[in-house]
Amino acid sequence: QVIYLNGQFVEKEQAVVSVFDHGFLYGDGIFEGIRIYGGNIFKCREHLNRLYDSAKSIMLDIPLSYEEMEQALVETIRRNGMKDGYIRLVVSRGTGNLGLDPRRCPVASVVIIVEQLAIYPEEAYVQGLKTVSVSSRRNIPDALNPKIKSLNYLNNILVKIQANLADVGEAIMLNAQGYVAEGSSDNIFIVKNGIVFTPPCYIGALEGITRAAIIELCEKLGYKLKEEPFTLHDVYVADEVFFTGTAAEVIAVREVDGRIIGSGQAGPITTHLLQEFRGIVT
Ligand code: PDD
Repeated sequence: QVIYLNGQFVEKEQAVVSVFDHGFLYGDGIFEGIRIYGGNIFKCREHLNRLYDSAKSIMLDIPLSYEEMEQALVETIRRNGMKDGYIRLVVSRGTGNLGLDPRRCPVASVVIIVEQLAIYPEEAYVQGLKTVSVSSRRNIPDALNPKIKSLNYLNNILVKIQANLADVGEAIMLNAQGYVAEGSSDNIFIVKNGIVFTPPCYIGALEGITRAAIIELCEKLGYKLKEEPFTLHDVYVADEVFFTGTAAEVIAVREVDGRIIGSGQAGPITTHLLQEFRGIVT
């Protein structure tokens, strides 16, 4: 496995960063999770636009231009002979000293890892995931804005820990006002009486690229879609619930906090959207 590390291609064992890297010390950095389908980088422009927006928002200067970054992705995929897989692209503030001050980090670190990925077994896409809602609250925008895909994933990890403790596959985060925000690493949709709903991102969710693709697909397939806030009650009484994400793709939810959702497995609209989504990526 060949890793891109600051302009060099190194073997996995040699891919190390300094203990003084502020990504390690403080989670000072940003990242993207990107899918490769049939050798192509899916939604490369959207992912890199989001990466450079995240960078700008935290005043992190990425030492590669957009084109150089795209080339680095393509070359890393080529060197790993990857046809279908997953890219983790990480840009940290870089090596500095023990202080917080980003000005002590002369150059950002850029890491590109490509790997096979199977976040959920195939049967989970038919049976749906069992989930719970958790006490962790998605930051309200005046904290660390959820639209910045930063290395500060402890909030998400705490959600994952609560999912693990409940022995379920994913968990739902609310925001400080109690509206449903998103999953630990995916966006959420519900279906009620044939209408598809997803929270607007200002509720406290990442502007998911898969979310955007599904919104577009609903438009194309003639499903009425509303971006409006909803609560756990609306989730419990929904006909269908599903998550979307680069890793997750489109995955049904069969149970939330002990409430069986609809038929207790992937619903018809969820199944149709997954089929169509897989059709556009291949
Ligand atoms: N997750 N929300 C959060 C908090 C996420 O971490 C992710 C992505 C999403 C889905 O966004 P997108 O559709 O752009 O991937 C929503 C990991 C990194 C992933 O799925 O790769």
